Amino acid sequence: MTQSKGKQAPRNGQPNPHFLWRSGQIVPWEQATVHVTSVGWTAVGAVFEGIRGYWSASRRELFAFQLDAHMTRLARSMKLMRMATNITAAQVRQGVLELLSANEFREDVYVQPLVYFAEGIPGYVGVVERPVDVLITARPSPSTLEEDGGLTACVSSWARIADNVMPPRVKALANYQNSRLVSTEARVNGYDQAIVLNREGKVTEAASSCIVIVRDGVATSPPWSAGTLESITREALFTLARNGLGMRVEERDVDRTELYIADEVLLCGTLMEVKPVLSVDRYTVGDGRPGPVTRKLQELYLRVARGEAPAYGNWLTPVHRGRRAGSNGAERAAAVNGARRAGTTKARA
Ligand SMILES: Cc1ncc(COP(=O)(O)O)c(C=O)c1O
Repeated sequence: MTQSKGKQAPRNGQPNPHFLWRSGQIVPWEQATVHVTSVGWTAVGAVFEGIRGYWSASRRELFAFQLDAHMTRLARSMKLMRMATNITAAQVRQGVLELLSANEFREDVYVQPLVYFAEGIPGYVGVVERPVDVLITARPSPSTLEEDGGLTACVSSWARIADNVMPPRVKALANYQNSRLVSTEARVNGYDQAIVLNREGKVTEAASSCIVIVRDGVATSPPWSAGTLESITREALFTLARNGLGMRVEERDVDRTELYIADEVLLCGTLMEVKPVLSVDRYTVGDGRPGPVTRKLQELYLRVARGEAPAYGNWLTPVHRGRRAGSNGAERAAAVNGARRAGTTKARA
């Protein structure tokens, strides 16, 4: 879609970043345009990732959080949707780092690689192994892990999409039509979030995050096969609960009624991070305040993400380290693109 004046078209009150990454090139935001007729069906076959970058003020470094896990999931989403891999996950990984560096972010950010069939192919047409385009955008997005309070939630009257309908385990854009119905219903009925059940009546996840309940000191979450995205944050939290808090964690089917009697309920995801749920269907969770396990997990997660827990250093990829110190973003973008043209970094077949 043509957006001729990027700087004059802020989103959520934020000015647009200087650059995005498009199929191997760092491109000035306002120059990344396509013809209007090529949008529409594009989203039907698209897959994407959502990645957070956390700024460490003490180390003067931006850390991409769980970058490799996100790249693995992106590759799996592409495989499932039969997208040709003319741009590899390794190149997208490099693109994320280049883009964050070129935009000179020194704050928390949210990065979104989007992979799509670019030729306006109608979504009902069987498309097998056609080449795809990749777009990466990144924007400032401050962590909310230190915010007080929590969320109200309901159980949605919508069911979660199923593996034999639209597989929820991968991050396909079209899956989010289900999420939109779920979250809109919750909002209309006065709740912050909704928890979705599968066709068997078991708990799956929320519209755009996973769920963990705490009962008698055990952290429990539904298995992926219940109908959830294979969440990177949920995996990370289980590791932190087990190793950091010494808790037992279990993956098993969760009944709706367990939400009403749990000691703690939390939602987790890359953008959501870790958020306490204070009531479900107006049943108070615990004493109606963020519970001790949730608060400890929030603290630990933030310490890990900001690079203050060396044991989890391999979850972080530094963005600025080793990149041409002293050069500005525009110079870096030119250097990246120049290297490509010279063939030293092959981004596109
Ligand atoms: C539907 C859905 N479930 C779960 C999650 C959590 O996944 P992750 O922890 O990998 O971000 C997300 C997104 O972040 C999501 O969109």
